[in-house]
Amino acid sequence: MPVSRELQLPSGDRIPTVGFGTWTMWRGEKGEMCKAVKEAIKVGYRHIDCAWVYKNQEEVGQAIKESIEEGTIKREDLFVTTKLWNTAHRREAVKENLKNSLALLGLSYVNLFLIHVPVSFKEGDDDFPKHSDGKMIFAHHDLVDTWKGMEDCVDADLTRNIGLSNFNHLQVQRIIDASRIRPSVIQVEINPMFSNSQLVEYCQKRDLVVTAYGPLGAPNRPWKTKDDPTLLEEPVVKQIASAKGKTAAQVVLRCLLQRGLVIIPQSSNPARIKENFELFDFELNEDEMKKMAALDRNFRAYCEDICMGHPEYPFNDF
Ligand SMILES: NC(=O)c1ccc[n+]([C@@H]2O[C@H](COP(=O)([O-])OP(=O)(O)OC[C@H]3O[C@@H](n4cnc5c(N)ncnc54)[C@H](OP(=O)(O)O)[C@@H]3O)[C@@H](O)[C@H]2O)c1
Repeated sequence: MPVSRELQLPSGDRIPTVGFGTWTMWRGEKGEMCKAVKEAIKVGYRHIDCAWVYKNQEEVGQAIKESIEEGTIKREDLFVTTKLWNTAHRREAVKENLKNSLALLGLSYVNLFLIHVPVSFKEGDDDFPKHSDGKMIFAHHDLVDTWKGMEDCVDADLTRNIGLSNFNHLQVQRIIDASRIRPSVIQVEINPMFSNSQLVEYCQKRDLVVTAYGPLGAPNRPWKTKDDPTLLEEPVVKQIASAKGKTAAQVVLRCLLQRGLVIIPQSSNPARIKENFELFDFELNEDEMKKMAALDRNFRAYCEDICMGHPEYPFNDF
C-alpha cells in the first residue's frame, strides 16, 4: 500500500507524515534536545512536535535557528506544532500561551496549535498546581470557549492550523459543531497495542488528520511495570522485521503510516533517529497488516492520571 510523505490540510498546508517528537522522560544534558532536533532535521524530518509543557522549546528553537543559519532548511520547509497547556484554557489566556511558546521557539508563527488535553488546571505560573493532598487544582472552562481562543490565534496569524489532542469522540464532535474554523488535526496515543481504531475512524471520516503519539509504545516510560507488554519485543513484530531486513521499530511505524496516520516517534540516538525516518522503501502486505492488527490489546501507555476526576477527563469513552 503506497504511503504519502505529506497529507493535505484544509488550510492548504501539507503536514509531513513522519514527524519528530520532542517529549522525553530523560533529563538529558543541557543541549541534548537541540542536538537531537538538529540531527532529525539533517536526516530529513520536516515536522517537529513540541508543547509548552515539554519545557524544552528554547532548545528546539535553537536547533531550528541553527539549521536555518547553516542552510539546511528554510523556515517555510518546516512544519512546527506546539500545544496549549491546561493552565491556559480561558479564551484570553490561549493567545498568551501561544505567544510565550513562540518567544521560546524564536518563531513568529507555528504551523499547528493543539489543545493538549481537554482538562483545565488553575491558571497561573505553576504548570501543575496542586492541593496540599497532592491532587491537581482543576479549573472549569467551557472547551468551546477555549476553542474560540484557538480561532483567535489563527486570526492573529500566530498559527496556520488548529487542532485537538487527547479528546474523545464526543469532545471532538462538540468542537466541530461549535467551530468557525474546524479542527484539522487530532493527536492521540496510537500504536499496534492500542489501535484506538474507533476514534481514528470517527475522526478520519470527519476529515481530521490523525497523528499517533507514543507510536513505538513509549518503551522507556518510567511507569512501565514488568507485566506491561513490550511492543518492540513482540515475536510477530520481530518475525516480520527479520523477514524484511528491517527493525521492529520500522515495522511498527510503517504499519501506522499504512493506516493513513501521521507519526511522531522520539529518539535521542542518531542511529535510531535515522532508522525511524527510513520507512518508504518497503511495505507490509495485507497478511502482515492483519498480524499487526491482532496485537491490539486496548493497552494505553498514557492514561493522564493527573486529570482523572475532572468532568472532561477524556478516556472513559473512545
Ligand atoms: N499529545 C500528547 O499528549 C503526547 C503524549 C505523549 C507523547 N507525545 C508526543 O509524541 C512523541 C512520541 O511519543 P513518545 O516519545 O512518548 O513515545 P515513542 O516515540 O513511542 O517512544 C520513544 C522511546 O522509544 C525509544 N526509541 C525510539 N526509536 C527507537 C527505535 N528505533 N528502536 C528502539 N527504541 C526506540 C526512544 O529511546 P532512545 O531515545 O534511546 O532512542 C524513546 O525512549 C513525544 O516525543 C511527543 O512529542 C504527545
